Amino acid sequence: MRHVDQVALMKTLLARLDSGTNVDAGGFRKNPTLVYRDRDLACNEQEAFFKNHAQIIGMSGDLPDNNSFVTVDDLSIPILATRDSDGNFRAFLNICRHRGVVLESESRGSTRRFSCMFHNWTYDIGGALVGIPKPEHFGDVDKDCMGLVELPSVERLGMLFVHPQVDGVIDVDALLGEELVAELESWAFDEMVWIACDTYATSCNWKLAMDTFGETYHFEVLHADTLAPAFHGNVQCYDTFGRNHRMILCKREIDQMRELPEDEWDISVAGTPVYWLFPNVQLILGQGTVQLVRAYPDPDDPARHVSQVSFYLRSQIVENNEQHMLDMLQYMGQRFGEIIRDEDYVASASQQRSASTGAMEHVVFGRNEPALHHYHNTYRAALGMDLLPLLETLAV
Ligand code: FES
Ligand SMILES: [Fe+2]
Repeated sequence: MRHVDQVALMKTLLARLDSGTNVDAGGFRKNPTLVYRDRDLACNEQEAFFKNHAQIIGMSGDLPDNNSFVTVDDLSIPILATRDSDGNFRAFLNICRHRGVVLESESRGSTRRFSCMFHNWTYDIGGALVGIPKPEHFGDVDKDCMGLVELPSVERLGMLFVHPQVDGVIDVDALLGEELVAELESWAFDEMVWIACDTYATSCNWKLAMDTFGETYHFEVLHADTLAPAFHGNVQCYDTFGRNHRMILCKREIDQMRELPEDEWDISVAGTPVYWLFPNVQLILGQGTVQLVRAYPDPDDPARHVSQVSFYLRSQIVENNEQHMLDMLQYMGQRFGEIIRDEDYVASASQQRSASTGAMEHVVFGRNEPALHHYHNTYRAALGMDLLPLLETLAV
């Protein structure tokens, strides 16, 4: 992020801290609880946002070396993503061309060949079919036509984009917009090293999982003993970039900036940038760390979803091999994941229990929760739904 923008954001945070104010969405919105349980909406979301929309499946660091791979099982199709022998990012249907067995069952690893467990058809890391046992018995196969089915893939800004449709288009500039592309570029995500990941299957709609990242109003209550000692709750900056947005959470270390000349101010000391990349990704930036959260709906149950949480460290930290620093950051990453699982998603599952009953028609987004206003109206607009109106008051 440009330093001039960092300083402006930190000044805004300090001013809000000093005046006891927060970002203001300008009013309330009532959000129908139906959006968390409705099967028709869930089908529309699946089609529009997961089957026919480019997906961020990870960061460049997920494929650290040539001949490395990851698999993705959270979409409607199984995906095998590789970095081939020439270092190119590729993505394929993770399906054997013979009789359709899922080819690679491991979630990540390193190999030059994928061998099918059924009859041992073998493919190289670039998806080419390179071996068929007993061809004289099986019959003549033109191997050139029977490689893995390739999906559109783009590696950009240190992130891995895949389109689940063979003829899908990935236009990163259109997805993110020029301004956000430039800002994400400045974080040099291509230097991040994958450290660990976790899977949280939770009894809540995927949007409730996303919602919990949309405000810091809850920090001093839900996270009283975990995040609140490190963050000022209910103080943030908020900006939108088309369908995407950025929040800046306010760390208590921001007070250090008051003693420093402005050219030494550092947003990663004073705050935590959180990017919400439409439709289902949260990128949480710490000092030398990135947490990537991807939320996927359960295709059969709107009241369930899976979150994939991945943790990355900046390569200099790993290469310097400062064990103490590494241990601490790793602990923090793991701890942060546990907070999501044990605090945020517990609240999300509780919201789902009430939403599923239909007992209450609406929930309410406050003035200090602008991300929720934006996100819900963004997906509603994308699906051609009526927008939630801004209300000055909650009186009936
Ligand atoms: S299904 Fe894969 S080799 Fe037969
Ligand atoms: Fe939270």
